[in-house]
Amino acid sequence: MADGRFLFLLSSGRKDGNSEALAREAAKALPSGVTQEWLDLGTTHLSPFEDLRHSTGYGPLAEKAADLAKTTLAATDIVFVAPLYWYGLPGLAKLYLDHWSHWMRAPGSEFREKMASKTLWLVMAHSGSEPEQIAPAVDSLRWTADYMKMRWGGALLVNANAPGTIARDADALDQAQRFFLA
Ligand SMILES: Cc1cc2nc3c(=O)[nH]c(=O)nc-3n(C[C@H](O)[C@H](O)[C@H](O)COP(=O)(O)O)c2cc1C
Repeated sequence: MADGRFLFLLSSGRKDGNSEALAREAAKALPSGVTQEWLDLGTTHLSPFEDLRHSTGYGPLAEKAADLAKTTLAATDIVFVAPLYWYGLPGLAKLYLDHWSHWMRAPGSEFREKMASKTLWLVMAHSGSEPEQIAPAVDSLRWTADYMKMRWGGALLVNANAPGTIARDADALDQAQRFFLA
């Protein structure tokens, strides 16, 4: 952790939302030696995912995907900053994850082997869904970490709807400040 590199992947459909506010509060508690990189997945312009496993197979990554894979591999910790959308992860987060299926199979990438030493986290705002309604979204990442032999860091889940809510929610701020240190 002390010399870690945290990659925060923003996947909300709006700027300055609650999930990001929570993640920024959580990040303040990281030790000063930890590098932080914040990336809006909406700016990465990943192409629609194509499953070529049982047809042509995969070639080398296109430039934008290669950059994103490199950024991913440079991190020690990958933090999905993702609001709950329809009881699941937002499309941007899901698209990014789907591309891992290619990156794992790109010639010479060793993506899966290199991911195995990393930790996966989730920071998620929702607007009052019940725990059992949120669980599938959390579990999808927890199982992904398991499949990739990554460590599961945990999920920070907060009920907030209109932007700005987090700043007025002392309990949410307190949870955020303790999240990465627990
Ligand atoms: C497309 C869409 C789907 C949503 N689906 C859910 C949902 O299934 N459950 C829920 O509690 N809130 C749902 N919400 C509300 C958001 O999770 C909530 O407003 C959250 O604060 C948004 O986070 P953000 O500010 O980081 O974008 C949905 C919002 C949108 C725009």
